Amino acid sequence: MWTRGAPTALLLLCAALSTAVIASDIREIFYSQIRELLNTPPFIQKKTSPKPTEVINWGINLEDELGQVTGVSVNKNGQPVVIHRGRRSLDSSSQFFNASNNYIGKDGPIHENTIVTLDPLDGKIVQSWGKDLFYMPHGITIDHHNNTWVTDIAMHQVLKFPYKNHDRPTLRLGELFTPGDSERRFCKPTSVAIALDGHIFVADGYCNSRIMKFNHEGALVRIFPQNGEFPSLLIPHSITLLHHLGQLCVADREHMRVVCFDAGLCPNPSSRRTLPFIINQPDMGRMFGIASNGDLVYAVSGPTFSLIPAQGFTIDLKAELIVEHWKPSSDEFTNPHDMAISPLGDALYVTEIGPNRVWKFNIEGGTTANRRRCPDS
Ligand SMILES: *[C@@H]1O[C@H](CO)[C@@H](O)[C@H](O)[C@H]1NC(C)=O
Ligand SMILES: *[C@@H]1O[C@H](CO)[C@@H](O)[C@H](O)[C@H]1NC(C)=O
Repeated sequence: MWTRGAPTALLLLCAALSTAVIASDIREIFYSQIRELLNTPPFIQKKTSPKPTEVINWGINLEDELGQVTGVSVNKNGQPVVIHRGRRSLDSSSQFFNASNNYIGKDGPIHENTIVTLDPLDGKIVQSWGKDLFYMPHGITIDHHNNTWVTDIAMHQVLKFPYKNHDRPTLRLGELFTPGDSERRFCKPTSVAIALDGHIFVADGYCNSRIMKFNHEGALVRIFPQNGEFPSLLIPHSITLLHHLGQLCVADREHMRVVCFDAGLCPNPSSRRTLPFIINQPDMGRMFGIASNGDLVYAVSGPTFSLIPAQGFTIDLKAELIVEHWKPSSDEFTNPHDMAISPLGDALYVTEIGPNRVWKFNIEGGTTANRRRCPDS
């Protein structure tokens, strides 16, 4: 408001001076401008979107069953599927990595079932698998063909498991237990997003702070950002694709912002935005989880400073505006780590890593508009 109004008032002031209008008139013109400005509504009217509301008492017994719930995705049936670390727990005092980011834990893979499907109605456990496969799992993504993708920050790999056949992965990206920043290695990868055309996006992660795009066979296509491209990332912690806008959006954790890139998807939306853009506001905090539906991006922040609470944000990507802040009604967020939205856009899940829990939020009506089809590869 002020930035728009001030130059006008100043110009008027100069014009008035140059024509030697008497002082009281100048003052009157100046103050009338200010009065007008104060009565002008803000530039862009805040759009309304349904606020996610907590489903009270949902999944209350999960804390006894799950370790650190680092990731969540929602399958085709609308069931939340979480990944957790069983009895293994990573915190600032644990020593699982040496200074070169090599995993130095001695205990082999996690022996509990790490991947757990929940009932969307009450949060009870429906099914579980994934024992003796992972060392320090982080992200989980169920794609459009029901494949399950997992990132493991100890293995420095991304693993793909086909539907209902979980014995061994059908695709492995990265070199087992070998961190690196070459085109064939990851260093503690955090998150995966799969495009409708089969492209694989990997957030690589805690040490390399880059996004890698592969074709469906795992051949590297692109790295974001590359060669000093703007903007840089600092721990891309979670990623989401908005197909109809052609965008990949990133929870850029340590920069406390959301960054969106042109993902180069098929088909390319004709009106797409090709330059990357950034959404940040002073209250955003360290952004951990991100999910999207239609034009809306949902993000959740974690512990930052005492003055900035961990909370949820709803961002209208077309308007480039934060349209809503939200949090649970029964309690506060403590350590949110990931989030996912149902295919119908009517349920949002947030997971935490201490206390270890899963929240469900309802979104009235949902939004499935603007979905775009693309030939599957
Ligand atoms: C970390 O562990 C790896 C594998 O054991 C080893 O090659 C590397 O030298 C270690 N780095 C440091 C800084 O200790
Ligand atoms: C994916 O899962 C849904 C729901 O269980 C099922 O109807 C569909 O056939 C599955 N698709 C594939 C490709 O397996």
